[in-house]
Amino acid sequence: MSLAANAVKLLHVVGARPNFPKLAPVHRAGVAAGVEQVVVHTGQHYDDAMSSNFFRDLGIAAPEVNLAVGSDSHAVQTARIMERIEPVFREQRPDWIAVYGDVNSTMAAAIVASKLGLRVAHVEAGLRSFDRSMPEEINRLVTDRLANLLLTPSRDADVLLRAEGEPAEEIAFVGNVMIDSLFFALPAARATGYRAKLGIGDSAVIVTLHRPSNVDDPARIRAIAAALAEIAKSRPVIFPAHPRTQQRLREGHVDMGNVRILEPVGYLEMLDLVEHAHAVVTDSGGLQEETTALGVPCLTVRENTERPITITEGTNKLVPDPERLVGELASIRRSDVTPRPEGWDGKAGARVIRELTNRP
Ligand code: UD1
Repeated sequence: MSLAANAVKLLHVVGARPNFPKLAPVHRAGVAAGVEQVVVHTGQHYDDAMSSNFFRDLGIAAPEVNLAVGSDSHAVQTARIMERIEPVFREQRPDWIAVYGDVNSTMAAAIVASKLGLRVAHVEAGLRSFDRSMPEEINRLVTDRLANLLLTPSRDADVLLRAEGEPAEEIAFVGNVMIDSLFFALPAARATGYRAKLGIGDSAVIVTLHRPSNVDDPARIRAIAAALAEIAKSRPVIFPAHPRTQQRLREGHVDMGNVRILEPVGYLEMLDLVEHAHAVVTDSGGLQEETTALGVPCLTVRENTERPITITEGTNKLVPDPERLVGELASIRRSDVTPRPEGWDGKAGARVIRELTNRP
């Protein structure tokens, strides 16, 4: 354990479900390096199934601070995070504030930290969908512009950030922290026996959908539901649904046929489902990466992706038109070779800590 590592105080900000598997490996590596750490949870997600269950499944302690901001419009939620996090930053005065991914909590924390003159490290920097109708794209742009250290999951992100004018010394390729969590949790995921509990083999299609562009438009969610119901005539289709999606399905009285809609499942249960899936149909960013790392075919119901490496080197395919889902699924052939993009090796969390402790 080096003196320099001990000298660094690191404050992590997380808020929503996809942040937690990114935090876990960095926090664990920080513990191993003797770094002083504080975790602040904004409370953007608050249901056990969306939040505390993930801390349990990922083996991380409960956050030291919870701001309990809850759900609201983007402006109100962002403002509330900013208002409540400022006194925490003032009191803690960390050497680095680590923010993760692209949720509202990420951007809100980056703005407040920058104005207090505190240094921000963005884990998962340099991803772009080039689609500003996605709230996450706005969050990525603002966070990357403000961050003092841009920690990237893939080399294409470095190239993009340089093209946007970021100085080379503020960019560090560390690889994909999300995949650290995946490798860490696979044995426990298999031990859940969740797939067996649901009575499915390896022919199932696992579905997640929650993006406003898919679920908030009644005609679009109906079209996607019709395709899934068609697929469910010939193989199990399992759909753990985000609270927003459940609400939209209820409001629209959407008919899903034989599709099995579940409550959101835990991180371990989801991994058990995905590892042995015939294919995944999703609009989630994280699942595009997890399916690539597991070699499972993924059909992404979106026009674009901020994670192009999952297409060029992985198993992902964009299928923006729901009417094409049935045909695409029928033509899927699973490769024997599991893709392994550079830095998706289970050691990204340690590289994040190395970068931070090298800049005390
Ligand atoms: C957020 C992130 C999105 C991420 C997603 C993963 C932003 C802009 N969006 O979207 O990038 O992919 O999380 O889940 O930060 N709700 C609950 N319980 C909860 C949390 C939310 O019931 O614990 C319901 C509420 O009705 C709420 C809705 O879900 O209004 C949306 O939640 P919100 O956090 O605003 O955005 P997400 O759609 O979850």
